[in-house]
Amino acid sequence: MGKDVIVACDFAGRQEVSDFLGLFGEGEKPFVKIGMELFYAEGPEIVREIKRRGHRIFLDLKLHDIPNTVKKAMRVLAGLEVDMCNVHAAGTAAMMEAALEGLTRPDGSRPLLIAVTQLTSTDQERMERDLLIREPIDEVVMHYALTARGAGLDGVVCSPLEAAKVHAVCGQGFLTVTPGVRFAEGDRGDQKRVTTPAEAKKIGSDYIVVGRPITAAPDPVAAYRRCVREFVG
Ligand code: C5P
Repeated sequence: MGKDVIVACDFAGRQEVSDFLGLFGEGEKPFVKIGMELFYAEGPEIVREIKRRGHRIFLDLKLHDIPNTVKKAMRVLAGLEVDMCNVHAAGTAAMMEAALEGLTRPDGSRPLLIAVTQLTSTDQERMERDLLIREPIDEVVMHYALTARGAGLDGVVCSPLEAAKVHAVCGQGFLTVTPGVRFAEGDRGDQKRVTTPAEAKKIGSDYIVVGRPITAAPDPVAAYRRCVREFVG
């Protein structure tokens, strides 16, 4: 389990994602992340199609609702045969437990389930002002991670810079899935706190999520291979 590069397929529609995945040969099937934009544009059929092409899928829909609604939604996602999906830890342990229950198939198998802690777009000031949460943000993140682990989830989405602490607090087997990765000489885009694939490996990330450094590269396949080389070795 773990140590892989997940390519964030932040494309607007089916044709764009199909053109992108078509660049890879039959023997090379990257793990892909499908987010809200693509899923809401194309619906569950895009998941089935990418599965048929032989890719593993992280469906990044960040569910957050009452436990019963999340449980039923997760049952649908388990039927789509996604490999990883996620919820907001802010939905509480009860919601995360319900999510796991919905995700578990009659034979006991299920996709990996990870939690979003505090979004990286939320800073200390916003958290205090808008959410009335007054503790230091890294303590909040670790608390959410521990709550997710207690509910039986497999890991969290976090910054590579938080991955070592999450492992220290929640155990090495608790997965860290980390976006915010850039090549040493690359354009950071809108990401503020970034690490290279090699640094993310050193820190101990289990999966790195990489979008534009691969999808917007002049040679996306070469960029993907470089990520794998630096991160997986
Ligand atoms: O293009 P880039 O490598 O920045 O893409 C990173 C991906 O990870 C995007 O799909 C983005 O939405 C997602 N993500 C993130 N930061 C988070 C959570 C998710 O960049 N905290």
